[in-house]
Amino acid sequence: MGTGTGKTVLKVENVVKKFGGLRALDNLNLTIEEGTVHAIIGPNGAGKSTMLNVCIGQLRPDEGTVTFDGNIITGKLPHEINQAGVSRVFQTPAIFEDLSILQNVMIPAIAQRDGHYKFNPFQMLSKQDDIEERAMKVLNQLALTDVIHDHAGSMSRGNKRRLELAMCLVQQPKLLLLDEPTAGMARHDTNRTIDILKQIKETGMTKVIIEHDMHVVFSVADRISVLARGHIIAEGTPDEIKGNPVVQEAYLGSDAV
Ligand SMILES: Nc1ncnc2c1ncn2[C@@H]1O[C@H](COP(=O)(O)OP(=O)(O)O)[C@@H](O)[C@H]1O
Ligand SMILES: [Mg+2]
Repeated sequence: MGTGTGKTVLKVENVVKKFGGLRALDNLNLTIEEGTVHAIIGPNGAGKSTMLNVCIGQLRPDEGTVTFDGNIITGKLPHEINQAGVSRVFQTPAIFEDLSILQNVMIPAIAQRDGHYKFNPFQMLSKQDDIEERAMKVLNQLALTDVIHDHAGSMSRGNKRRLELAMCLVQQPKLLLLDEPTAGMARHDTNRTIDILKQIKETGMTKVIIEHDMHVVFSVADRISVLARGHIIAEGTPDEIKGNPVVQEAYLGSDAV
């Protein structure tokens, strides 16, 4: 713990996102320190996924700004933000079912290197030795090397989620955003994911993890922010959050711990 560099890598300032009359994000402010694992927790419908979608350019906020690595990224396109160094693990796996596991991991690395417009899915998978090497390294880290030539579609649900994590890690992002990476996983797969997250923590990559499972949150997070009704109601270390009465009432008191 306490692995941060003191530098701000992501800053969300006064962000408002409306869906019709609903203010899904209601003056959201959040600062993420480089090198930390920062968990975002909060009840269902609090605005966690919306926040993540604003940060990756999938949604445009009505008000406010998002700054990544010193540059304002509000209004930029998802692939531009990805190329700037932000990768995101989806709540449900988005993989190419008919391609091999190795190919699945190579594609995001090629897309990131070549950019959105030069990207040619038909030429790309041969003669990519450097990318293949990088992909193999990540697959090894996630203990998927035995199955690299299998079709991704044939994997178990838990392995698919691990594959998707590999597809982000191969991009060597500065900032990795994870939306409920253990959702729907059995305890065994959850524990493996915790191990992997701890392992990649050592590389100094900044991670923002949205997570329901308090066991996961308290195992990996350096800092925790609690989101409720579209804004942050508390922030602190895991110990501070555990003991915070406001948080207990808003969230932890229910069924989460
Ligand atoms: N595309 C959308 N259109 C309309 N309402 C949405 C949309 N996405 C999310 N919402 C609403 O915004 C609120 C926040 O949703 P979300 O960010 O998914 O919450 P969380 O991820 O914390 O569970 C919820 O009330 C949800 O119903
Ligand atoms: Mg969500």
